[in-house]
Parts: sequence; C-alpha cells; structure tokens
Amino acid sequence: NKEELKEVMKRMQHEMDRGLRLETHEEASVKMLPTYVCSTPEGSEVGDFLALDLGGTNFRVMLVKVGEDEERSWKVETTNQMYSIPEDAMTGTAEMLFDYIAECMSDFLDKHHIKHKKLPLGFTFSFPVRHEDLDKGILLNWTKGFKASGAEGNNVVGLLRDAIKRRGDIEMDVVAMVNDTVATMISCYYEDRSCEVGMIVGTGCNACYMEEMRTVELVEGEEGRMCVNTEWGAFGDNGELEEFRLEYDRVVDESSINPGQQLYEKLISGKYMGELVRLVLMKLVNEDLLFNGEASELLKTRGSFETRYVSQVESDTGDRKQIYNILSSLGVLPSELDCDIVHLVCESVSTRSAHMCGAGLAGVINRMRERRCEESLKITVGVDGSVYKLHPCFRDRFHKVVRDLTPHCDITFIQSEEGSGRGAALISAVACKMAAYML
Ligand code: BG6
Ligand code: GLC
Repeated sequence: NKEELKEVMKRMQHEMDRGLRLETHEEASVKMLPTYVCSTPEGSEVGDFLALDLGGTNFRVMLVKVGEDEERSWKVETTNQMYSIPEDAMTGTAEMLFDYIAECMSDFLDKHHIKHKKLPLGFTFSFPVRHEDLDKGILLNWTKGFKASGAEGNNVVGLLRDAIKRRGDIEMDVVAMVNDTVATMISCYYEDRSCEVGMIVGTGCNACYMEEMRTVELVEGEEGRMCVNTEWGAFGDNGELEEFRLEYDRVVDESSINPGQQLYEKLISGKYMGELVRLVLMKLVNEDLLFNGEASELLKTRGSFETRYVSQVESDTGDRKQIYNILSSLGVLPSELDCDIVHLVCESVSTRSAHMCGAGLAGVINRMRERRCEESLKITVGVDGSVYKLHPCFRDRFHKVVRDLTPHCDITFIQSEEGSGRGAALISAVACKMAAYML
C-alpha cells in the first residue's frame, strides 16, 4: 500500500545518501557510483563510432554515425547486429568472454567493410563499475547471471583492449565505458534537455541521475553535476527490505547465481519475474487450489515459466485463449477458473514489481528536487528495457506510483530507442572533442 511504498522510498533515499558519503560508502548497499559523465560540454565530434552493448538480453555491436543536421542538432544513425553470448562465455573465464566480444567486433567490421578503420569505441557495459575516469573502471561484481571469472576487481576496458590485442586483426580506440542507464539518459537528453534520469527495467533494474557534484564525495570538485549510477538493484542487501520479501523471493534468491545480492532487483526485473509467478503457482497447486492439485513435470522445473509469458497472460483479451495456450505448452490442461487464477497471479507479481520500482524512482526524483532547493521540479526520465517496453500494463502502473509519490514534480517519461548504442557513441563523441581541445 501507499504507506509501505513511502517507507521503501525513504529507505532507498537513506541508502543513496550513505552511498554518496565517503565514510559510509563501503558499507552502503546502494553504491552510487560516479560515472565521470558531467553536465558541461556542448558540442561533439562528428563521424563514425563503434558501440558495444553488453549486459541486456542481447549483445550488440553497432556502427553509429554522429552528425549535425541543418538546425545543428545531433543526428544519429545506427546499424547494428545482435550476437548471442554462449553460456560458457558468460560463466567461463573473463578471457573467454572478452575474446568472444572481440571476435564479434571483428565479424561486424568485416561485414561492413570497415576493418581497416581505427574507430573510436563507446562501450555500454551494464554492470556495477567503479570508474576512475570515463574510460577506466573496475568491475565490482557481476549481476544478472554473468559470472566470468577473473573480471571482478579488474579494469574492464583493459580486458577489452587486451582481447583486441590478442586477436591482432582490428584496431580500436576505446574512449568511453558507460552503464546502460547512463547511455539511455544521454540518448534521450539529445531529444529533451530536461532528461536527467535514466532507468532500465529489463533483465536487470537500475537507475542513474544527475547529482550535484558537491555531494558526490568520492570525486573531488564542487561545481556542476555528475551522473551517478545508483546500482539500486542491490538495495535490500543489508536487510532494508526484509519485511517486504516473501517466501517466493527467498527461493528465487537462494537458487540464483548470486544469493544475498541484488535483492531489490530480484523483486522487480525480468530475469526473475516469470520464476516468481511459477513459484506462486506451485504453492497453489500444492495447496490443491489450482490445476486439480497436479502440476506437470515442466511446470515443476525451475525457469519454465518465462517472463514473456507474464506479459502474454496479462495481454489476454478476455477469451483466455493465450493463457490456455501457454499453460498447455507447459503440460497442464487448465479450467477457466485456473486461467483466471494464473492471470491474477501474473498481475500481482508484475504490479508489485511496478510499485516497488516506482517507489525507488520517486526516491531519486524527490531527492533531486530537495537537493536543488526547488519548490517544483520539471524532469524527464529516459527509460529502456524489455519489461518496461513489452509488458502491457507495467508502464501505466509504474507511472502512477511515481507520480503519486512525487507531488511537487512534473515528470515526463520517454522511451529510449537504440539508447545504448546512441548514448555510448554520443558520450564518446563528446569525449573525443574534449580530448582534441586538450591537445
Ligand atoms: C536495451 C539496451 O535496449 O535495453 C541495453 O540497448 C539494455 O543496453 C537493455 O541493457 C535492457 O533491457 P533488457 O530487457 O534487454 O535487459
Ligand atoms: C543490473 C546491473 C546494472 C544495470 C542493470 C540493468 O542491475 O548491475 O549495472 O544497469 O542491471 O541492465
């Protein structure tokens, strides 16, 4: 209910505060990582950039052309190719993973006949990174099912450069590494200059926003603003969400690759939503309240109820056809009442996800308003991710909660298109311009 959501919001704000402060940063669950993306420059290089996008549903390599149109606003065109990351590259060694990435880049450059070019590269790397600069940062820990050994604690750009060197057939100038939330925010910023928040609700869930430089204690400097990657997915890892977590959440966590970590993310994101639904269904079966008390072997199998089914079930137009088809494909023959119960379970799990996520974003936006000492704040949030984009009702439920909890704010949400590629390339383009100035 609203009071509970307010409590979640307050606790989130408290952890954000601890994450920003030097003396509490280490123990804070919400890490508030400085990104070295600042609120200063206007203007960027024009030309071709390569962008990589690792950490969402798909790994992508993109060619991004940054230019200016007649009104001197940015014009960005992209060509991209998707590659699937084999399981053994995700969970093997860092060398295997980055060799595979370099192999995909080489393949992409071949296909586009640009292998001879040394392009500037923007890398969207959607994991918690402690940056030392825009193009240097260590991976704190993997999330979302990645586990390649030898990467945590190391400079990610270094790992990529080493892999490129090992191949020896391509040359790249890695100029920027950014989180997907940051790339999303930047890509939307070029459409709407009020965009100072980026959020992802997809496989994982996270947000970034422009924080007053003076409060980012981990970085020296007082002037202007710096984008902070909150890494709010880890909220709850210090016990802040205990009374809100249910038995299903505990099972999902215990059987995950990173137990005890990313507890807020595990209540919300697409990697876990389908499995939460399955666990609730199994409980109802075991209590003889569903499917005549009998589940198929498939329904008993972890991961069999995919997150996209949640969207499909909730898209049902009233004839229960989709629900029936999904359940049949899982080996159960449901009655009409069974279908309605499954619909209700999906709705409960996805609504909780939207509300929990909304409480977090409201916490970020209220904080921004307070820090800026503004009576009212007009702000735009750039959003991406499969749950936000593909679930039929997530968006509306989420917007409502955010707006309910931020009474003095006027919030616009924009959906980012090709955000990661465009965002990473635009940041790289600005970085190249700045490097040119310094020469
Ligand atoms: C994509 C972005 O559109 O959305 C990625 O390009 C991002 O950078 C992703 O990680 C998040 O959504 P999902 O659902 O693919 O995890
Ligand atoms: C996970 C990652 C985070 C990313 C998010 C969305 O929470 O740790 O860096 O932004 O997923 O992809």
